[in-house]
Amino acid sequence: MTENTYTPAALDRSATVYVAGHRGLVGGAILRKLQDEGFTNIVTRTHAELDLTDRKAVFDFFAETKPVYVFLAAAKVGGILANNTYPYDFISKNLQIQVNVMDAALEQGVDRLLFLGSSCIYPKLADQPITEDALLTGYLEETNDAYAIAKIAGILQVQAARRQHGVHWISAMPTNLYGPGDNFSPKGSHVLPALIRRYDEAVANGTEVVTNWGTGSPRREFLHVDDMAAACLHLMEHYDGPQQVNVGTGTDTTIKEVAETIADIVGYTGKVEWDTTKPDGTPQKLLDVSKLKGEGFVPQYDLRSGLEHTIQWFHQNKDSIRE
Ligand SMILES: NC(=O)c1ccc[n+]([C@@H]2O[C@H](COP(=O)([O-])OP(=O)(O)OC[C@H]3O[C@@H](n4cnc5c(N)ncnc54)[C@H](OP(=O)(O)O)[C@@H]3O)[C@@H](O)[C@H]2O)c1
Repeated sequence: MTENTYTPAALDRSATVYVAGHRGLVGGAILRKLQDEGFTNIVTRTHAELDLTDRKAVFDFFAETKPVYVFLAAAKVGGILANNTYPYDFISKNLQIQVNVMDAALEQGVDRLLFLGSSCIYPKLADQPITEDALLTGYLEETNDAYAIAKIAGILQVQAARRQHGVHWISAMPTNLYGPGDNFSPKGSHVLPALIRRYDEAVANGTEVVTNWGTGSPRREFLHVDDMAAACLHLMEHYDGPQQVNVGTGTDTTIKEVAETIADIVGYTGKVEWDTTKPDGTPQKLLDVSKLKGEGFVPQYDLRSGLEHTIQWFHQNKDSIRE
């Protein structure tokens, strides 16, 4: 079957929507967004209730709930260390989750599904800012290549489902995300929540020197997860095409500037040292978001307001954040 002409439209607020991974950073934000938008029939299952690597359980769940729309935000996710240490788990679990969910969605005739990947699908040495066309044009970053290959397979699976079965499934590739529900654990957290926690604890403990990794000069792009969730819904309502869509702000900031902004917000006035014996990683990582902008989406948070919102959430939820 070939792709037919189809114009995406507003999703039916009373139809059954399945948010896979609703307790995660992204899935949680999508759930909040859908609730705010008046969706009345959202189905969710925790990992304990439904292990998405259990193929039979996934098929039974889809047959029982018959979702009309699916947001696939469940994945085995981790930082550099976890990806580097457990590459087999990252490729195997993610492939299983994606294949099971998409096969079950196909069986139940789900016509609108959004698959979430990550900017690590792009080649390590891709030109900056990275356009969607950079996919499969070069070698991947070795530390997370297994994870990236699983995500690339997911994009291809979406494209193949469109070609062979005529469904209107799409893929979105977010940049670095942050916000309420993030992982603030010192072991597992990404750079931004790690900095928030470090500076916040320095204020609480009266620490006089904070030491950060690297030189602070790498440039990174950060998107507030509520903007990500809004972009997911926007794409489901406005975009239909086989190519994945980058989701970001289109602007980047040095890690040093990010750290200074966080220090200012939490009120840290002590010394800051940069441990230049620690690796910096790639000098710049920025997505080209022209395609997303072309679909009419504009993020609401700039970095400062997004950080203020996240730090406020962190203060309110310190005792219950995931470790
Ligand atoms: N966070 C970012 O900066 C970022 C950036 C780019 C792309 N993304 C993409 O966004 C998606 C979601 O990421 P996230 O940051 O929201 O991750 P997250 O916070 O770790 O959430 C992932 C969710 O998936 C669930 N899950 C994992 N394995 C499962 C399984 N076998 N069965 C059922 N549920 C399972 C997890 O439940 P448990 O915790 O209970 O296992 C968790 O609720 C991923 O595809 C990721 O690549 C994230």
